[in-house]
Amino acid sequence: DEHVRPAREPRVSDPTTPRLRSRAWFDNRDNPDMTALYLERYLNYGISLEELQSGKPIIGIAQSGSDLVPCNRHHLVLAERVKAGIVEAGGIPIEFPTHPLQETGKRPTAGLDRNLAYLGLVEVLYGYPLDGVVLTIGCDKTTPAALMAAATVNIPAIALSVGPMLNGWFKGERTGSGTIVWRARQMLAAGEIDYAGFIKLVASSAPSTGYCNTMGTATTMNSLTEALGMSLPGSAAIPAPYRDRQEVAWQSGKQIVEMVAADRKPSDVLTREAFLNAIRVNSAIGGSTNAPIHLNAIARHIGVELSLADWESHGADVPLLVNLQPAGEYLGEDYYRAGGVPAVMGELYRAGMLHGDALTVNGRTVADNIAGARIEDEKVIFPLAAPIKERAGLTVLSGNLFDGAVMKLSVISDEFRDRYLSDPANPGAFEGKVVVFDGPEHYHHAIDDPALGIDENTILVIRGAGPVGYPGGAEVVNMRPPAALIREGVHALPCIGDGRQSGTSGSPSILNAAPEASVGGGLALLRTGDRVRIDLNARTADMLVDAGEIERRRGELADVERAVTPESQTPWQEIQRGIVGQFDTGAVLEPAIKYQRIAQT
Ligand code: FES
Ligand code: MG
Repeated sequence: DEHVRPAREPRVSDPTTPRLRSRAWFDNRDNPDMTALYLERYLNYGISLEELQSGKPIIGIAQSGSDLVPCNRHHLVLAERVKAGIVEAGGIPIEFPTHPLQETGKRPTAGLDRNLAYLGLVEVLYGYPLDGVVLTIGCDKTTPAALMAAATVNIPAIALSVGPMLNGWFKGERTGSGTIVWRARQMLAAGEIDYAGFIKLVASSAPSTGYCNTMGTATTMNSLTEALGMSLPGSAAIPAPYRDRQEVAWQSGKQIVEMVAADRKPSDVLTREAFLNAIRVNSAIGGSTNAPIHLNAIARHIGVELSLADWESHGADVPLLVNLQPAGEYLGEDYYRAGGVPAVMGELYRAGMLHGDALTVNGRTVADNIAGARIEDEKVIFPLAAPIKERAGLTVLSGNLFDGAVMKLSVISDEFRDRYLSDPANPGAFEGKVVVFDGPEHYHHAIDDPALGIDENTILVIRGAGPVGYPGGAEVVNMRPPAALIREGVHALPCIGDGRQSGTSGSPSILNAAPEASVGGGLALLRTGDRVRIDLNARTADMLVDAGEIERRRGELADVERAVTPESQTPWQEIQRGIVGQFDTGAVLEPAIKYQRIAQT
C-alpha cells in the first residue's frame, strides 16, 4: 500500500497531508482561468503538467550567490545537489535569486540592504507557489535577511550554509579574513609595509570560494543558525570546497521535503529557548557584535520576546571555547576539524547551559542532535572545564550617552587591559577626554591631524553611524589610533560609537549605541574635550558634564542631528530612514513587525 510509509518519509500524496499551498496556483478547480494562466508560464521552461499537478511539494531555493556576491557564489554549484535531494525525496525544486547582499562591496554599507533583501524575499515566499524553501546563507547579512523573511512568512524553511573559505596562509602563518586587514593597516601606517605589500598580505586570506574564514559575522551567523536549529546539525562549519559540503546540500534538499510533509515551520523551531541557546553559543564561539542586532531582528519577526538584556543575563557568564581569530589563533578549517558547532553545543549542554528539548529542522531536538558530539582538537575548541577565557559574552552598558550599547569582552587584549583596566582601586573603570567625529568621513579625514591632540588617554567617539545616520549603520566604531601613536606602540584606544564594527575586528569598542545621535541620543550632546567615564563593573558609560550644561546643549540638538545625518543618496535610503528602528531592537522595519506568520493556512 503506497500510503503506508515509515514515519519520517515524506507523505506528499497521502490524503491526510494538509493541502499544499502551491495547489491554489496549479490545481484550483474553482478558478480554472487563473490555474491555466499560472500553469502555462511554469510549463514553458520545461516542468511538465504532470509534475505541477502531481501534488508534489514545490520547493524554492532562495539563491543568494552570484558574481556580485562571491562569498555565497559556491551556492550556484551546491544548488544542483540541493535539487537532487529535493527530487530524490519527491519534491519539485524551483530556484530563484535574492537581492545581492555582499558585505564589503556594497556602498554605502551592506547594512542598508539587509532589510531590503528581507522585504524582497518576503514577497517572493508569500506571493509565489512555494510550499517550502531552502535558504542559501553565508555572507554576513544574507543569513539574517533570509531567516527574518522565513520568520515573517512562516512556510517550512531550512538554511544551508555555503561554508567558510579554506585557511589563508602567508609565510607560514594563518591569515584570516578581515582580521589581517586590521593588522596590515597598522603595519602600513607604521611604515613596515608598502601599498603593494599591504594588498598582497590581505589577499592571502582568501584562498578559495566561501565566506570569511575568521569568527566574523559570517561564521557567527552560520553557527548561530545551526544553534537555533534552522540548519542540519554539523553543517555550519564545513568549508565551502569540502565534499561534505556537497553532501549536506543534498541532505538539506531531502530534509525540506520531509519538513513540508510534517508541516514543520520556522515558528516550531524559533522559540525563545532556541534564541537563548544561540546567545550562549555566541559567547562560547566568541561571536560577532552584529549577532545581537540580527538575532533580535529575527526574534521580532517571529514574535518571540528577546531583548538586549537577555544577551547580558544569558550570555555574559558563558566562557570562550573557540580559539578562532580575531579573539584567538585558528581559522575555519580548524574549527570544522575540531568538531564545529556540535562540539561546542555538546560542552554547553553537558554543563546544563542549553535547552536540550528545543526542536530543530530535522524533527529532532538539540539534545538528540548533539548526543555523542565531542571536541576533536582541544587547541581549537577548548573544553568547558578549561576554557580560553571566563565570561566571554557581551556586556551591555547604559548611561547618559545612550540607553544601550554592547562591548565584546572576549577581545580585550592584555595591552588594553593593562593600559585602561588596571586601576587598583577600580579595575573595571577608566576615564578620559573625548575626541568626537561626526561620521566615518570625518574620522578618516581627521584621525591623523595632530591638532586634535589625541594621546593614549583619549577616548575616540564616532556618531552619525547608526541605522538612520549612515543609513543602515556603518562598521566604523573600531577606529585606529593616529599613525604617530601606533608608532609609539599604542595599538588601540577606547572607542565608543552609534555604529557597528566588523565581526572580524579584535577591538573592544563600545558600539551599537542606541538611540543614535541622529535621533537625539546622548552622543549628540557630547563635545570634543568632554570627559567620559566607563565602568564595566557598574555597566555604565557617562559624560561627566553637569546637568545645566547638558540642558543648554539640548537647545542645539537639532543642529547636531542635522550635521550627523547627511542627505539620502537613493530612494531606499530615504524610505528606510523613515521606518527603521534602533540597533538594540534589531534595526528592523518597524511597520513590518505586525505581519507575522502570514502564510498560515
Ligand atoms: Fe562576505 Fe565576509 S565579506 S563573508
Ligand atoms: Mg561586516
